[in-house]
Amino acid sequence: MSVPTTHREFFDELAPSWEDYISPLDRAAVGTIVASMGILPGDRVLDLGSGTGVAIPALQQWVKHDGRVVALDISGQMLEEARVLHGQVGTSYVQADGSALPFRDETFDALLCNATFPHLRDKDAALREIGRVLRPGGRVYIAHLVGRERTNAIHRNAGGVIGQDLVPDADEMKLMLEAAGFSDVTVADEPARYVAVGRRPV
Ligand SMILES: C[S@@+](CC[C@H](N)C(=O)[O-])C[C@H]1O[C@@H](n2cnc3c(N)ncnc32)[C@H](O)[C@@H]1O
Repeated sequence: MSVPTTHREFFDELAPSWEDYISPLDRAAVGTIVASMGILPGDRVLDLGSGTGVAIPALQQWVKHDGRVVALDISGQMLEEARVLHGQVGTSYVQADGSALPFRDETFDALLCNATFPHLRDKDAALREIGRVLRPGGRVYIAHLVGRERTNAIHRNAGGVIGQDLVPDADEMKLMLEAAGFSDVTVADEPARYVAVGRRPV
C-alpha cells in the first residue's frame, strides 16, 4: 500500500476501519456534546468532518423528521461508510473541503466539527466559512473527546500527513473564533474533552 500524501488519501485508507476505533464511551460522549448544542426539531445541522458519522444518530434524533443533517467530509470513503450506516432519511452526504463550504449563506442553525478541526489546512478560512453558512444566532461546536494535549500527542505519534495537525490552545482558539466574527466564545480544555463554542452574532 502506498504512503498517503494528502489528507483525503489518509482518511480514505482509514475509513473501512474507523468505526473500530470508536468505543461505546466515545459514542455516549458525542451524544452528550450533541445534546448540549440546543438543537431544535426542524433545525438544519452541518456535521463538518463527519467521518463515518458517529454523531449522525444523535443529530438525527434532535432535528427530528422536519430537520436535516448534512454530513460533510473530504473523504469519499468516510462518507460511503456513513451513508451505509446511517441512511438517507433526513440526511445528506457532501464531499468537500471544510475550508470552502458548498452551501449558501445562513443555511444552518448549528454546526458540529468533532475531531476534525486540527486537520483543516486553512483554519481561519474554515472559521469564516462556518460563520457564513450559519444563520445569525447559530452556534459552532468544535469538539474533541479528549483534551488538547492528548489529541496533539496522538497526531504527532501518527506522523505523516497528520503529524502537524494540532489543536489550538484555549486562548488561541478563542482569538481565532473572535477574529472570524463569533461572539459568546467559550473554550473548555479538559482531560476528557475539548469543546470550543462560538455564536454568530444576530
Ligand atoms: C479523526 S476523523 C473524525 C471523524 C468524525 N467526526 C468522528 O468523530 O468520528 C477526521 C475527519 O475529518 C475529515 N477531514 C480531514 N480534512 C478535512 C477537510 N479539509 N475538510 C473536510 N473534512 C476533512 C477526515 O476525512 C475525517 O473523516
